[in-house]
Amino acid sequence: MPETSPFATKPTLLGELTTLRPFRDEDHDAMAEAMADPEVLRLTGSVHSTAEAIGRRPVVDEALRRWYRSRNDQTDRLDLAVVDNATGRCVGEVVLNEWVRADASCGFRILIGPRGRDRGLGTEATRLVLDHGFTALGLRRISLRVYAFNPRAQHVYEKAGFTVDGITREALRFDDRWVDAVNMSVRPSEVR
Ligand SMILES: CC(C)(COP(=O)(O)OP(=O)(O)OC[C@H]1O[C@@H](n2cnc3c(N)ncnc32)[C@H](O)[C@@H]1OP(=O)(O)O)[C@@H](O)C(=O)NCCC(=O)NCCS
Repeated sequence: MPETSPFATKPTLLGELTTLRPFRDEDHDAMAEAMADPEVLRLTGSVHSTAEAIGRRPVVDEALRRWYRSRNDQTDRLDLAVVDNATGRCVGEVVLNEWVRADASCGFRILIGPRGRDRGLGTEATRLVLDHGFTALGLRRISLRVYAFNPRAQHVYEKAGFTVDGITREALRFDDRWVDAVNMSVRPSEVR
């Protein structure tokens, strides 16, 4: 019999400012909006120039619906909607992915659209998901990659306990400039 995966269970994690919960169909518009946002496109390395980042319209197409409808069936990763408790609306997502069972390690990603940023939600969401990863999932190490032109995200990660492991030099070309990526990780005893 295959070993059951702790990632198969999709929790709801309650914070003061934000609730992390499994995706619902009502979140599709909000995710399309967040992913068309120029800051999100640039800072997640999804585009390679300012020209590509600006003027995008949010698109809720079949691919987006299929992707978010399938998130709750994944047994090797955790994708949760970041909900703003002030409005009850989804403003972004938080993801634990690239799980290696043998090493008890995984990756971390977060994105919050313009409606949710700079109000503390990202900090709280990061802490909530780290707590879940280390207590409920029994992970030993959670890692991420952040571009050097994203000091806000790096600050949020450091506040939550991540430290820098090293640099991947010139990982991204943006507007014909080379941007380093900062590799960070956190272990259970380091969470803040
Ligand atoms: C990165 C992100 C998740 C942070 O979430 P958030 O809700 O906006 O952040 P918070 O409000 O919780 O905290 C922001 C912190 O950064 C600080 N900050 C803001 N701009 C900053 C800057 N340019 N340099 C350093 N720190 C900065 C704020 O002062 C605050 O810190 P404090 O609480 O110690 O004062 C969110 O902004 C986001 O998703 N951005 C777009 C996509 C992205 O960057 N994703 C991450 C890719 S690795």
